[in-house]
Amino acid sequence: MLLSVLLLSVIAFLLILLSMVWPPDSPWAPWWRTNTKTAKAICKLADINNKDIVYDLGCGDGEVLIQSARRGAKGVGIEIDPLRVIIARIRVFINGFDEKIVIKRNNFFNEKYKDATVIIVYLIPKTLDKLLPRFRKQLKKGTRIVSYRYEMKMPLKKEDKENHIRLYVI
Ligand SMILES: C[S@@+](CC[C@H](N)C(=O)[O-])C[C@H]1O[C@@H](n2cnc3c(N)ncnc32)[C@H](O)[C@@H]1O
Repeated sequence: MLLSVLLLSVIAFLLILLSMVWPPDSPWAPWWRTNTKTAKAICKLADINNKDIVYDLGCGDGEVLIQSARRGAKGVGIEIDPLRVIIARIRVFINGFDEKIVIKRNNFFNEKYKDATVIIVYLIPKTLDKLLPRFRKQLKKGTRIVSYRYEMKMPLKKEDKENHIRLYVI
């Protein structure tokens, strides 16, 4: 009994260590997240306001959506990892934004984002490249896209170099 508990603890510890080096668009990379300071900087760069519908593709624990809701925006988070879906829903509820933010458990490649006015992505370049044709097809003219850390193959509109955030417009 003691041996199996010990073994399970070692496996859990190794998984946590490994998750830190897996790419950020992987469902097995729980520790890659946007902190509050950067989430606020994202909202500022995209000028998120109460007319916006913000989609976070791979929303993690929902921090960017929560900061967007503080500025009056509605939010939709799409997250593939069931644990992070639960964490995001709890955080949304605790922060009192359950009327403003919906967290969907799904693969964002199977979703539509037609009503988005702002799209948030913190995903590796390979995934951003795959999303680009979908964005061009689905999104309305004028939709803002904010990418944290990774560049998109689109003309850059604005950049916050200090926080590694880039803004693009469809
Ligand atoms: C780097 S984390 C960013 C989390 C969050 N956006 C943030 O900035 O804190 C990437 C997230 O995308 C999720 N993800 C990866 N591929 C996905 C997919 N195809 N559909 C939905 N979520 C996905 C992962 O589970 C992870 O939570």
